[in-house]
Amino acid sequence: MAKAEKIIVTGGAGYIGSHTVVALVESGFEPVIVDDFSNADHKVHERLETITGKNLALYEGDCNDMDFMQEVIEKEGSITGIIHFAAFKAVGESVEKPLAYYKNNIGSLLVLLELMQRYAIDNFVFSSSCTVYGQPDKLPVTEDTPKKPAESPYGNTKQVCEEIIEDFVKSAGQFKAISLRYFNPIGAHPSSLIGELPLGIPSNLVPFVTQTAAGLREKLVVFGDDYDTTDGTCIRDYIHVVDLAKAHVKAISFIQESQKAKLYEVFNLGTGKGNSVLEVIKTFETVTGEQLNYEIGPRRSGDVEQVYASVDKSNEILGWQAELDLAQALKDAWNWQKTL
Ligand code: WQD
Repeated sequence: MAKAEKIIVTGGAGYIGSHTVVALVESGFEPVIVDDFSNADHKVHERLETITGKNLALYEGDCNDMDFMQEVIEKEGSITGIIHFAAFKAVGESVEKPLAYYKNNIGSLLVLLELMQRYAIDNFVFSSSCTVYGQPDKLPVTEDTPKKPAESPYGNTKQVCEEIIEDFVKSAGQFKAISLRYFNPIGAHPSSLIGELPLGIPSNLVPFVTQTAAGLREKLVVFGDDYDTTDGTCIRDYIHVVDLAKAHVKAISFIQESQKAKLYEVFNLGTGKGNSVLEVIKTFETVTGEQLNYEIGPRRSGDVEQVYASVDKSNEILGWQAELDLAQALKDAWNWQKTL
């Protein structure tokens, strides 16, 4: 049996990172978890070992810390690639603390790229976001849809990081990289052992829905119903986090199999389908039997009216497509919420 290939997963105890650790093990890889636990719970590590049945290497520290990251690479040796999730990701917070976002999100990328060059680690997958598109003029959004000026420092860090990676690929010898642009990740692992753990009051819709249904929030406010959409509420492409995780394994494998010396590709990760906020609420009520307490409120500034993905490129080139639907994601999110 060939030795499993080691993949460093930064932010590997986080929401999408932890689900990707499971997907990597299921595909025969050996994930090495790196996390500073600034936005993750320590119990995730033991939960991941329960789900996978494996002992999983874990290094607690900050990806911005060059010495720390170098020590991880030296200790593990023979790292095949890195999947980089670790970043600050709260849009609103990024407006209040732009310097912290630029320093952390861009700084950690620069540390990793420098170390990958030094240790000839040539396989890199970057966690990006559909936020780089802003409000697209045409839908569905393809990877060639022009990026719009970022609407937040968070979104700008994603745009800048993508550009840094592309420039580095051009300059380096064999370095290969993929940026994955997530639409709206939701749901949880079917085991209900891992899922989304928002710190404080959730800004995202689905954790707010499940916390309201669980009685932790008094009511959900729908941010506007006067948009030019079917029912007046915003439309998004909600993708199950388990499907999202599997796409990362496809991306790592695609890079390994590629014969191109300087590979840089971008892929949209969505379902290809848009759902409105009210459709999410109605679907949640249907699949859970819960009656959700919600009311219509004013629009939230910065929200785009509607955005959903064309996933043709991911289907055709990565050989990946979402298999789980909105109903399943909401069911899994609710089952996870009930364990908290
Ligand atoms: C979805 C819809 C809200 C909460 C954000 C980030 C994006 C990415 C995904 C990181 C919108 C509505 C929400 C509520 C509501 N994150 N809503 N009441 O804004 O599409 O994307 O998360 O990469 O960068 O911007 O997701 O879940 O916040 O909102 O009506 O209490 O739900 O208006 O239409 P969003 P979201």
